[in-house]
Amino acid sequence: MSNVVQIQKQGNIAIVTMNLPPMNVLSAANRSGLYDAFTALDQDASVAGIIVTGAGRCFSAGADITEFKGKGDAAFSEGRDLSVVCDVLDASTKPVVAAIHGFAFGGGFEVALSCHYRVVAPGTQVGLPEVNLGLLPGAGGTQRTPRLIGVEQATKIITSGAPVDAKSALSLGLIDQIVEGDVIAGAKVFIDGLLAKGDKPRRIRDIVIDPGSFPADFFAKTRVAGTKKRALAFATQRIIDCVEAAATKSFDEGMKAEWANFLACMASSESGALQHAFFAQREAAKVPDVPAGTKERSVKKTGVVGGGTMGRGIAISLAMAGYPVTLMEADAARAEAAVAAIRAEFEKLGSSGKMKAEQAAASAALVTGTISDKDLGDCDLVIEAVFENFEIKKAMSAQLGAACKPGAVIASNTSTLDVDVLAQASGRPADFLGMHFFSPAHVMKLLEVVRGKETAPDTLMTAMAVGRKLQKHTVISGVCFGFIGNRMLEPYVRESEALLLEGATPGQIDRALEAFGMAMGPCRMMDLAGVDVGAKTVIERDKDGMLPDDPTYRVVCRELEKLGRFGQKTGKGYYRYEGRNAIEDPEAQAVFDDLARRAGIARRNAIEDSEIVERCILPLINEGFLILEEGIAYRSSDLDTVFLSGYGFPAERGGPMYYAGQAGHKWLRDRLLHYAETRGNAQGYWAPARSLEALAASTPKK
Ligand code: NAI
Repeated sequence: MSNVVQIQKQGNIAIVTMNLPPMNVLSAANRSGLYDAFTALDQDASVAGIIVTGAGRCFSAGADITEFKGKGDAAFSEGRDLSVVCDVLDASTKPVVAAIHGFAFGGGFEVALSCHYRVVAPGTQVGLPEVNLGLLPGAGGTQRTPRLIGVEQATKIITSGAPVDAKSALSLGLIDQIVEGDVIAGAKVFIDGLLAKGDKPRRIRDIVIDPGSFPADFFAKTRVAGTKKRALAFATQRIIDCVEAAATKSFDEGMKAEWANFLACMASSESGALQHAFFAQREAAKVPDVPAGTKERSVKKTGVVGGGTMGRGIAISLAMAGYPVTLMEADAARAEAAVAAIRAEFEKLGSSGKMKAEQAAASAALVTGTISDKDLGDCDLVIEAVFENFEIKKAMSAQLGAACKPGAVIASNTSTLDVDVLAQASGRPADFLGMHFFSPAHVMKLLEVVRGKETAPDTLMTAMAVGRKLQKHTVISGVCFGFIGNRMLEPYVRESEALLLEGATPGQIDRALEAFGMAMGPCRMMDLAGVDVGAKTVIERDKDGMLPDDPTYRVVCRELEKLGRFGQKTGKGYYRYEGRNAIEDPEAQAVFDDLARRAGIARRNAIEDSEIVERCILPLINEGFLILEEGIAYRSSDLDTVFLSGYGFPAERGGPMYYAGQAGHKWLRDRLLHYAETRGNAQGYWAPARSLEALAASTPKK
């Protein structure tokens, strides 16, 4: 018997406990343990009823997805198959009750569904989140759920993958009872009641779905609706097939259909990409080169300097995570305005249901304004988000270096300035690093932590721990212009501008890249972020002599800025705007035409969408290889996390570097060389990175 699953007897009731902390995942040992326990208990005449539960903080989080990684079918060759385990529970001749606390997700909830009854502790969540990894519940979840709660609700739950709270689960009929106090004691009372009444086990598999219980066109309509999220579309369609099988076939036939569909999902490129993204995010949290045992510093109080767009968002994010925040502004009026805006945002979050109202009020109360750096003296972490100006930032770094207590971590939210120079200016570079949030900071998931030359290991670990607490996807970058994300984005935007000069329209460029899967094309993105903001960065780099020797480099945004076409905020930019609607604008077109004429660039009549995608995406990936060669990022999957979490890169492509691997490194290198030949390569824009060359050489086929 596996020691992961323990059996304890209380009178004639056996309690089977999955004990594999922290999540009781359904590893091979857990599955085999459950199988052995149930086979033995069915034979044990002293046992009249069985309770299944989980030790520690939950029932079970579901499959051990590290078993899937890169193994395909082989993942299921060890231990008992989960659906076989579920069959054994289901077939038990003695009533089986799942006693659930914390959560039962995925395979964990499928185990609970194959029990005859489910009782849960208040606050429990249940659900089938497999779709988020491009998969479907493969151990009867798609067959038992519709039999239990009907086709429509089951489809909604399985295709959304969202957790269901105890009260909703009870009203849907997913569970039988919410019990106060100890959930095992509650389950025991429940099972004693069944035994007293002489109730036979109630098997969900025996329920027959009434074809009149859902609209005749339900599946057809749901199939059409289920194609919206591209990354999830494949699995969604397969889930609908499975639920339809549940509604029209026997349980055993439905189970066969479910397994076939599960394997199809497992083999799909979408699931491969989503699983890659899942592991990439977890991997990004690991810091490989700090001494073992390095502990983060304790952060109880936080400070934010600058209450503009970013400072406000950062303060909201910190307060949402429960940190008290002292927000320092340049004068009292601005401090008051910032705090008032933060309170208003929390009110909005509370009234719209995005946060519980009392939680929003409690978070709002954590933020106080000040104009004195003395009030930052007891903060453990201070993040500055003042104007993006070197002199102002250097002065602020020095001020914070003096004002913050020893051991406090000082972070800059700069997007373009040299973190090492700011660290020196603070006078305490070991305590200093970058924390680069994205706008709006309380919404966007990405956080780049920028490690300076002299950042101490525990300073770095502190920023990572805070990132975790803020529920950000936190990635470490070294110091370079643009860090990981904006540096890789630069050639992408450069090429979008070059294509405008060659004759493509903003609409064509955006449509091509949105068809590739980008959440927003580069022209609309620039208009949203502010053409002036983008242009300012280019102008500053020009002053510092950092631009390539290319008279047409990023001329479009600089010209639009000169004309006051700042994008959405001025109603005109690459497009003109009616509300938020971007409309192609002949005036903007005249600007592109004129720039092209002045630069002597011949307008091409037709530019293929495939060229637009390659011209923008391939140099972005190539820049990623350069970043890895320079040691700016630890691992290629970190670059994927950056682009998936912060730049709207299509989830079904798994991030730019994963996409490169799928498309083929040799293909990528060859396409870069093709553009070097056709576009010219005076600035080295199309020179494949050395590491890409090496990969291309080692993968002769693609
Ligand atoms: P902003 O102009 O909206 O806000 C800056 C704020 O800093 C102003 O409210 C100003 O009063 C305050 N401030 C200036 N000097 C101060 C001082 N000595 N003491 C206290 N407060 C002072 O600027 P935004 O957009 O919030 O940017 C702030 C920083 O965040 C910049 O470093 C920027 O590069 C960076 N960033 C901006 C992003 C964006 O999308 N806006 C994205 C990521 C980073």
